[in-house]
Amino acid sequence: MEADGAAAGAAALGQRLAEGGQGHVLRFWPELGAEARRALAAELRDMDVAEINRFFRRARGDGGGAAEVTAAGLDARMQPVPRDVLGSASRDRELLPRWESRGLAEIAGSRVAALLLAGGQGTRLGVPYPKGMYDVGLPSRKTLFHLQAQRLRRLQQLAEEQHGTHCNIPWYIMTSGRTMESTKEFFVKHHYFGLKKENVIFFQQGMLPALGFDGKILLEEKGKVAMAPDGNGGLYRALGAHGIVEDMERRGVQSVHVYCVDNILVKVADPRFIGFCLEKGADCGAKVVEKTNPTEPVGVVCRVDGVYQVVEYSEISLATAQKRGPDGRLLFNAGNIANHYFTTAFLKDVVNTYEPQLQHHVAEKKIPHVDITTGQRIQPEKPNGIKMEKFVFDIFQFSKKFVVYEVLREDEFSPLKNADSQNGKDNPTTARHALMSLHHCWVLNAGGHFVDENGTRIPAIPRLKDANDLPIQCEISPLISYGGEGLEKYVKGREFCAPLIIDEDGIHELVKNGV
Ligand code: UD1
Repeated sequence: MEADGAAAGAAALGQRLAEGGQGHVLRFWPELGAEARRALAAELRDMDVAEINRFFRRARGDGGGAAEVTAAGLDARMQPVPRDVLGSASRDRELLPRWESRGLAEIAGSRVAALLLAGGQGTRLGVPYPKGMYDVGLPSRKTLFHLQAQRLRRLQQLAEEQHGTHCNIPWYIMTSGRTMESTKEFFVKHHYFGLKKENVIFFQQGMLPALGFDGKILLEEKGKVAMAPDGNGGLYRALGAHGIVEDMERRGVQSVHVYCVDNILVKVADPRFIGFCLEKGADCGAKVVEKTNPTEPVGVVCRVDGVYQVVEYSEISLATAQKRGPDGRLLFNAGNIANHYFTTAFLKDVVNTYEPQLQHHVAEKKIPHVDITTGQRIQPEKPNGIKMEKFVFDIFQFSKKFVVYEVLREDEFSPLKNADSQNGKDNPTTARHALMSLHHCWVLNAGGHFVDENGTRIPAIPRLKDANDLPIQCEISPLISYGGEGLEKYVKGREFCAPLIIDEDGIHELVKNGV
């Protein structure tokens, strides 16, 4: 009986797939064992083949929707961000205290949440576990998740101290089918890094199959579809599917800081950014750093046909990326660091109204797959298919009041993208050095000094000259300082020999000289 039922189920599945022109995915069904059949059927049962075909046609530009924009077409339509929507942490210094205190007041009222995009596969870094679990080799051996959690704890403490109220910053963490279990286990193992379990909310984004250039679903193995997360813009569908906006409303959250997992310097729930967006009455905002190198792999915030968006580094032509304004700076210099501000109300509109209008971006990739005719596994040497992804910033176009906040790269942006062996950029070494250089700077600004082994003061030039230049080993726990504040009581007028570590247990260093 059971076998009959399973056979009927498989037949119905086969028919649905065949109707959608995807019947080939069951080509190897007769060769599969019972367990593999069950797994494949489960994977296919949840798949909306008609929708996938529609996505493909639209992404390819022949389904009635707009075509995927090409770099050539974009050039003429791009305009830089106008000055009036721009705030700057360096040029508007006198306004920073105001923005910060506004942001801290919101945090104190438990009206701010952080939302981490952690569903990526970290292909470039090449580790088999989620990027947030990566340890870049700091003296403390803290992982990216650990640093972010401690920054949230410190912010809560700062807001509570200033406002005398108890508060929480809920932390929403988006994972994918590939990262959910290991991420959760990691948090459990580390007792949520001291955060309350109920304030760390995991939810899962969707996946889409990789397709051949002909729109046919590719098989990774004979009984397994080649699936990948649907891009960090899969966020909006996932927010709807898991009732996350409702959860935010229940908690009274009004402002959400959405950010990527890989920036070691990320100021999670940054009160200045939040305060700036609130002061401007924005429903949507982007934090940027000045892009100075035309070929740097960061997207740029700009307007296209008068509408705000990010033009990705993969979508801009070199000629446009190299254009310079009258001041000699790159014309498109608002480098997206994947830190976004959204009001809960705006997110709700996106989930309820705009999400279906978002179009997939198409990336041509080398996708290992099983040849449908021969059954052989193929490791292609040139792109053989596409992955379809939505991008988190694709909702800027729906904003009624959009703002941009520029910060200093050395204070806030050092992403971890590549393995150390690949090239000298955006790797564990550069991330580790960026954090230690910043903390060195904090110590100097708070009136501390570093001396060498002979007791001679080391010149106060904390920034690195090149990637081979070793920074002073200096690490300050986020539980002690969120952005350089509160360090005078530890360091003012004192001399330190690196390595210097300041954490909850006090000051640890090689030699200590009171002055
Ligand atoms: C991203 C930005 C780019 C920016 C750069 C700065 C996007 C689409 N692009 O590029 O404009 O200049 O960061 O470092 O945001 N993720 C998911 N689900 C997915 C795919 C990715 O949650 O399906 C998450 C990743 O875990 C990561 C973040 O999104 O936290 C960024 O993903 P990644 O693919 O590394 O983006 P970049 O190409 O570096």
